[in-house]
Amino acid sequence: MLRKKALITGINGQDGSYLAELLLDKGYDVYGLMRRKSKLEYGNVTHLKDKIKFIYGDMTDLVSLINAVRIAMPDEVYNLAAQSFVGTSWDQPIATAEIDGLGVTNMLEALKIAAPLARFYQASTSEMFGLVQEIPQKETTPFYPRSPYGVAKVYGHWITKNYRESYDMFACSGILFNHESERRGEEFVTRKITMAVAKIALGLQDHVELGNLDAKRDWGHAKDYVKAMWLMLQQEKPDDYVIATGETRTVREFAEAAFAAVDIQLEWKGQGVEEVGIDKNTGKVVLKINPEFFRPAEVELLIGCPDKAKKQLGWKLEIPFKELVERMVKNDLRILKEGNK
Ligand code: NAP
Ligand code: GDD
Repeated sequence: MLRKKALITGINGQDGSYLAELLLDKGYDVYGLMRRKSKLEYGNVTHLKDKIKFIYGDMTDLVSLINAVRIAMPDEVYNLAAQSFVGTSWDQPIATAEIDGLGVTNMLEALKIAAPLARFYQASTSEMFGLVQEIPQKETTPFYPRSPYGVAKVYGHWITKNYRESYDMFACSGILFNHESERRGEEFVTRKITMAVAKIALGLQDHVELGNLDAKRDWGHAKDYVKAMWLMLQQEKPDDYVIATGETRTVREFAEAAFAAVDIQLEWKGQGVEEVGIDKNTGKVVLKINPEFFRPAEVELLIGCPDKAKKQLGWKLEIPFKELVERMVKNDLRILKEGNK
């Protein structure tokens, strides 16, 4: 039987790496779109670099995407590439729009031209719900994005639907809520916390500085979420699905869980920007607020309803919150002790 071929954009990011592992395990030929950098490095797929066929390209360059599609002639395309850090989207709103918004049209056009029968997955996001209009958020909840990133992703979401309806393409959007992992970028709040907790536990750092501790997120593990991406492209008909745990926690609760993983129980003192987290045993301040990390507009509460995905895709969550946090802290301790990544 012919092996299926998949093209993954954003292959060396967090999700790209877990998805590549999943598809290689399933016997796919995996092609990965990668940006040319001054120093050749494979990021999260370094361990898979001999198994993946890399193609240089950029989401803002239609020619490079047509070229990539012609080389791979994929059965399935997973569009994970993005400027994915919400904070940076205020500093680089135009680049974010070009990559996360127009970049999706570029990829859809490349497919329309070179492989119109390929199945397409778009990495949509719970950030599109922003100032939430309904609790919990589901596929039918109206969008109200709160950042240039969220706005660009709403465009990407709708252009995906539009190409499905205009050209009968098999194009799906996964509206994924926050998912983290041992491979999460270090500027995202979960990994920033777990890395700092590991350093504090090893005596390499005194404290961590954070922004809004009251923001609530629905956090799962990326390994579970890439399975949903694949399932969406195996259905009879293309559709959009929310992928979430259905639970929400504050950043404060994430920090408590991460410190607890190294046996530090946190006690909170003070209010607002004066609030601090104190190690109950030693009385030392291990967490401070730094207004620099607050955002111009915040998404205060995210909690998704994954019922449609559970029912129609048979998707289920395997890694619960506590295990997610413990895995991340344990891995950061290992990295620091071994002195490598
Ligand atoms: P990530 O780790 O930041 O990975 C992003 C990837 O996109 C990297 O490989 C990056 O390559 C690539 N990229 C950025 N700009 C590009 C461009 N102009 N051309 C080609 N590639 C480019 O993000 P992630 O957490 O894996 O997320 C994957 C996707 O899911 C993103 O679209 C994100 O917006 C979306 N999403 C994520 C979450 C989440 O909680 N993780 C939730 C919902 C949706 P470089 O290494 O060259 O920068
Ligand atoms: N990054 C960061 N750093 N966030 C902080 C900090 C800090 O020091 N302190 C508090 N926060 C708060 C942010 O204000 C936000 O409310 C929350 O922690 C989560 O921030 P991030 O981890 O940066 O993730 P995000 O929710 O903004 O975006 C992630 O999830 C989206 C899905 O909802 C990214 O992965 C996006 O790409 C993704 O679409």
